[in-house]
Amino acid sequence: MEVFYITTPIYYPNALPHVGHAYTTLFADVLARFKRLTGAKVFYLTGNDEHGLKIQRVAESQNKHPKVFVDEMAEVFKKYWKSLDISYDYFIRTTDELHEKTVKEAFTYIYKKGYIYKAKYSGLYCVECEKYYSPGEYVVVEDKPYCPLHNKPLEYMEEETYYYKLSEFKDYLLDVLENRNIVYPRHYAQEVISKLKSEGLRDISVARPVERVWWGIPVPFDEKYVIYVWFDALLNYISAIHYLDDKDVFTEHWSAAHHIIGKDILWFHTVVWFSILRALDLEPPRKLIVHAFLTSRGAKMSKSVGNIVSIDEMLQRYGVDGSRYLLTRISNMDKDSEFSFELLDSVYTSELVDTYGNLVRRVGVLAQKKCGGKIYRRSIESKLADEVPVKIGEYLDAMKSYEASRAAQIAIDLARTGNQYLNEAKPWEKSDPSRELYNALELIRVATILLAPITTRASRVVSERFGFTIENPLKLRLESIERYNVAEAPILFRKLKTTAQQPAQPSQ
Ligand code: MSP
Repeated sequence: MEVFYITTPIYYPNALPHVGHAYTTLFADVLARFKRLTGAKVFYLTGNDEHGLKIQRVAESQNKHPKVFVDEMAEVFKKYWKSLDISYDYFIRTTDELHEKTVKEAFTYIYKKGYIYKAKYSGLYCVECEKYYSPGEYVVVEDKPYCPLHNKPLEYMEEETYYYKLSEFKDYLLDVLENRNIVYPRHYAQEVISKLKSEGLRDISVARPVERVWWGIPVPFDEKYVIYVWFDALLNYISAIHYLDDKDVFTEHWSAAHHIIGKDILWFHTVVWFSILRALDLEPPRKLIVHAFLTSRGAKMSKSVGNIVSIDEMLQRYGVDGSRYLLTRISNMDKDSEFSFELLDSVYTSELVDTYGNLVRRVGVLAQKKCGGKIYRRSIESKLADEVPVKIGEYLDAMKSYEASRAAQIAIDLARTGNQYLNEAKPWEKSDPSRELYNALELIRVATILLAPITTRASRVVSERFGFTIENPLKLRLESIERYNVAEAPILFRKLKTTAQQPAQPSQ
């Protein structure tokens, strides 16, 4: 049986997740659900990145112990993922005992191999990114160094620390990035290669003195330090699949690892992560799938910029299926997608309400009125018999190349074909329109199955009310249903009544 291991980044729980985080989590969810439908044994991992200065400071500002704070936030994140029908198999927290043990062992192993050493470090740090910035990487505002992503001043820090010999991995990384097809889309690998070639690689600090950052995993052989939060966090991908305590489970999953990330953390997931894996004598992941940003008023949606749209707001407006569909539909790996309620409203109305929802409703009503809900198998119109399998093939190709947005559009195209077919065939004018209705129901069935990883609830409702099962899309064939039993004509998507508010302007 095919194993499919898929992960999201683990999120900083310093604030509520917003639609930017939902975008990644949903993207992974759609792929996980698709793979499950095709019969693969899926392990879908998401979770929270709970250590480090950022979390320590937020907890302090709320007069809470960080552990109390992250415990509360873990429940909040889980609640949001549930409200979006996210089907993760495990929610990892970097405060999990097994994770902490794994990080300590891995750190010690790498130290013993000579890749970690002690020395002085100084530089400009962004707490939001939990990262040092070197000249050329930051921007200068009124003579002060600023983080280009968060638009906040960088903090000068100087400390005796443990370094990780990242520089030793340059040739290995270039070889992997150039010759192995891991990073998808490919141009992201190219970006990293160019940066590696033009700037080279410097060793990075992988520990923090406890006086400054005490909220983290202690360096096992020197309790005056905690392990750098990124080193800790990246290891979640292997700690969750029992790297430490179950070799078989680990090997089975690791060879099928697919990481989904936003392009902001590409460097960490190629250069830092691949080198750590190498230092642990492990292979890089099977695939690193990178997507672009969800922007709002032109800037990456983020709490510190002040231009976020909340998940609640989206859910209230479009419901679970609507939100899932729209976030999938606007997802893009190469280009940033601007979040605009105006655009989403029009896609929601034209694709879900007027196309798929309308087709289901009108066919359901006609089937009941004209045929008592029972529609027996008839032959499929030759035009449809030619067109539908081609569309299914295109959908499968899209999913195979992780293009969930294209897959969603193909499913809706089939519903559009269904509406056109009805407009031409005019079943309402016939005394026995069962042939036309069988054809239309077949289009609905195919569209519903193809949409099942996305509009989870609508697909379930339609399959139950119309009497068919959500089957493996790889085995989807026309005319395989002997009889439809239409019990009800559901209204799947509510019409929007109000005009949406636009998201707030980013603060300068
Ligand atoms: N904790 C680290 C990741 C460690 S993974 C070993 C982190 N967390 S984060 O909370 O900042 O979330 C980062 C991820 O959230 C991004 O890589 C991206 O997948 C997602 N996104 C957050 N805001 C987003 C947008 N505005 N647009 C697209 N993705 C967004 O970095």
